[in-house]
Amino acid sequence: MGTNQLSRRNCLKLLGAGAAVVASGLPAVAQSTGSQSAPVPQESAEQKADRERRMKWWHEARFGMFIHWGLYSVLGRHEWAMEMEGIPAAEYAQFARQFKPKPAAAREWARLAKRAGQKYMVMTTKHHEGFCNFDTKTTDFCAPKQGPGRDLVREYVEAARAEGLRVGFYYSLMDWHHPDGARCATDEEARRRFVEYIHTHLRELLTNYGRVDVLWYDVAWPLDAKGWESERMNQMVFQLQPDIIVNNRNKLAGDFSTPEQRIEAAEAGRAWESCMTMNDSWGYQRADDAWKTPKQIVRNLITCAHDGGNYLLNIGPRPDGSVPPESVAILNTVGQWMDRNGQSIYVTDICQPRRSRNGSFTRRGNTLYFHVHFWPGGDGLAFAGLRTKVKSARLLATGQTVAFEQDDYHVRFKGLPAKAPDEPVTTLVVECESEPKQDELFVRRRERGAV
Ligand code: GLC
Repeated sequence: MGTNQLSRRNCLKLLGAGAAVVASGLPAVAQSTGSQSAPVPQESAEQKADRERRMKWWHEARFGMFIHWGLYSVLGRHEWAMEMEGIPAAEYAQFARQFKPKPAAAREWARLAKRAGQKYMVMTTKHHEGFCNFDTKTTDFCAPKQGPGRDLVREYVEAARAEGLRVGFYYSLMDWHHPDGARCATDEEARRRFVEYIHTHLRELLTNYGRVDVLWYDVAWPLDAKGWESERMNQMVFQLQPDIIVNNRNKLAGDFSTPEQRIEAAEAGRAWESCMTMNDSWGYQRADDAWKTPKQIVRNLITCAHDGGNYLLNIGPRPDGSVPPESVAILNTVGQWMDRNGQSIYVTDICQPRRSRNGSFTRRGNTLYFHVHFWPGGDGLAFAGLRTKVKSARLLATGQTVAFEQDDYHVRFKGLPAKAPDEPVTTLVVECESEPKQDELFVRRRERGAV
């Protein structure tokens, strides 16, 4: 391909990115949508087996907590405030002295995550602003040497472990504070210095805190994989932490894809995790009142589990580390639902049936979970085209048996209580004779005598 073609292609890509800006309000410069991942390379049987081994717990876990916490929490105007408000780095750096979290704030998050049924946590060790929540030899712009006066990552790791949760580190490659953070794109000396800085952080993070389960890279602007030396980066990561899993945002495919603020399964055989905010902001945004309902969160979790994905749900703690009460309330409600319904989410298999206007489905082996969002009561609940024979049905929350009738057209559940037995979503356990399969066109074809 000639240079002209290449640049035309890049130009078109840029135009595409420009269109995304209009849609999302974020600048093209560092849009990170999760779809920017590198092509997935062919892997050997050995590599595949190793990945399966490393990822087993994660697939079973399904539900994690994302935590965005840093100097932007002091401002309380979204984690992109520095960039969006055009605050010069030197001025912004003063917030580091004002960041004074209460002791052991992370224990509150970890207990909340546990109550919510989340099995792992992923915390921002350094976001785009460049402030390191961990202790580092590379800069004074880090928690122990500024307002907090202590290593916030260490507290987080200890808190997560105390609740039996897996530990993930989010780490932004893009850095607005470091003098080489942008210059590295055009100045080779600067690139070398900056890449050394970033690689050293990763080395520190993966050496000083014991076992780390997930490394969650973010925004690779302004370099490509070659510029970041991403192959060497991942090699170091796996050398230091042979059991870790890594995402795809250092411009390599990594172990899993990261659709952001949307739920979208990756191609078959590829792991994915949808990350999402509870309102519209990752970092604490005092005025953001666009909260999702617990019902929306539960439905999203079900949608992820249906397609074999994970759901990484964010909290944006306030500068003292406390979690906004709206987030606490949502997670408590979701957690109560998970206490009763966890078996329909954890360790589930990809589920083929998906067609209903009342609810959605997940599956474990031959068991189909029918999650009813809009409860009709009486004899009003049915779904079409199930080609597998149903053996029994019951309510997951109460264990109560549910009467049903099945023919070629549908399964209809009978004599249901008028009021939904569980909130915000009621789950029916539908035991089938073999793996449940739905033929969406069967009814129409049968009507026309085609089957
Ligand atoms: C985007 C945003 C960032 C957030 C991340 C979470 O990359 O730039 O603020 O941390 O998404 O996925």
